Amino acid sequence: MQLLGNRKILLGITGGIAAYKAAELVRLLTRAGAEVRVVMTPAAQEFVQPLTYQALSGHRVYTDLFDAEAESAMDHIELARWCDLLVVAPASADFLGKMSAGYADNLLLTLCLASKQPVAVAPAMNQQMFANPATRDNLRQLIGRGVLVWGPDEGEQACGDVGPGRMLEPAQLLNNILSQFGPGKLDGVRLLLTAGPTREPIDPVRYISNRSSGKMGYAIAEAAMKQGARVTLVSGPVFLAPPFGVELVAVESAQQMYEAVMGEVADCEIFIACAAVSDYRVAETAQHKIKKTGEVLTLQLVPNPDILAEVSALQARPFCVGFAAETENLEQYARGKLQQKNLDMIAANRVGSAGSGFEADFNQLEVYWIDGGQSIEHAGKSEVAKQLIDLIAERYTRARS
Ligand code: C5P
Repeated sequence: MQLLGNRKILLGITGGIAAYKAAELVRLLTRAGAEVRVVMTPAAQEFVQPLTYQALSGHRVYTDLFDAEAESAMDHIELARWCDLLVVAPASADFLGKMSAGYADNLLLTLCLASKQPVAVAPAMNQQMFANPATRDNLRQLIGRGVLVWGPDEGEQACGDVGPGRMLEPAQLLNNILSQFGPGKLDGVRLLLTAGPTREPIDPVRYISNRSSGKMGYAIAEAAMKQGARVTLVSGPVFLAPPFGVELVAVESAQQMYEAVMGEVADCEIFIACAAVSDYRVAETAQHKIKKTGEVLTLQLVPNPDILAEVSALQARPFCVGFAAETENLEQYARGKLQQKNLDMIAANRVGSAGSGFEADFNQLEVYWIDGGQSIEHAGKSEVAKQLIDLIAERYTRARS
C-alpha cells in the first residue's frame, strides 16, 4: 500500500552534518509514495551536493531565491502552496533563530513564511547549542505559533559530545509524517465546541467578562478538524480567526451561547465546553449609560444557565467534555465537577501559575474520567489540543463500542 500516495512533501535541508541523513528520508518518503521536492539553504550545500537529492527525489533541487529558471517553472509562492507539509530536516540552530524572527533571506525561510500548510522542524545541533536559552526561546516561539517540533534525539554527536541535539532518525521522521496524514480519529463525527469568554452587559457600553482569550478552544477546534470531525464552534468575542473549515457561531452573552448550543446540539456526537462562561449576569441591563453619582452602586446579579450541565442532562446527550480552571486541589475539584455535571471527561488546568492557562500560548492539563486520568505535559496550545483530541477520540470510541 502507498502510505503517502499523492502526498506532496516539501523537504527543507539546512546546514548541518545530519544533512546526509536527509537523503535517507527522501528515499523513505518516495518509497512510501510521496512526491518530494527538496529545498536547500546555502549552508546545506556545504555538506551535501544538491545532485544527491535530485537523484533520489527525481526532481530538480531548489536552492536559490533569485533563480529565474526555477522561478519560471514554479515560483516560490507556488512551491509553498504546492505542498501538503513542509518539513525542515535537519533544522540548524541558525535556521531556527531566523525562522522564529521571521527572516526571509533565503528560499527556505521564505517558503516557511509563505506556507499556509503545516510546518515541521527536526532540530539538529550540538547539545550545548541546543541547551542555550536563545535556542530554547526560539523553539518555544515556534511551538507557540503552531510549528511542529520533532526531536531532537539524545545520544552521541558528530562532534564527540553526548546529549540532546541529534536529529531524529529518518524512520522516526517518516512515522511522524505518516501520523500527519493518518486516517482521522474522528472522521465524520459532529463535534460542538464552546470557546472564549462571554460578555454580560451592564448598560449599552459596559459589560462583565473575564480573561479568556479563546486560544485553547480554537486550537481544539482545529485539532478536531484535522482528525476529520465536522466542527461547529460557538464562540464568545475573541481576537482570533476561526480555523479554516470550522463553522463559527459568534455570540456575546452566556444566554446567547446557551441558545446557540441548544440550537446545534441535537445532531452532535461530542460536546466540548471550553468557554469561560460568566456564572452570573446583571439582573436588569440598563437601557441607557449609567451615570456617575458619587453614591455606592449595587448591581444585582442572577445566575446564568450552566450550558454544560444542561447539555449533559439531555435525554439524547452527546459525549460531554468539560473544562475546569482551578487554583488549588485540582484533582478533587475537577473530579467533583465530573460527577456533579455528569460528564464523560474533564480537562483541568491550574490557573494563576505563570506561562499557562488564560491568555498564554502554552498550557498543561490533567484530564480525568470516572475510572482514570492522564496528564498532558506543558506545551504549545496546539500540541496540547492535539493530545487532548487524541484522548477524547480514544474515550469516545470506547464509549460508543
Ligand atoms: O462550574 P465551572 O464553571 O467551573 O465549570 C466549568 C465548565 O463548565 C467548563 O467546561 C465551562 O465551559 C462550563 N460552563 C458552562 N456554562 C456555565 C458555566 C460553566 O458551560 N454557565
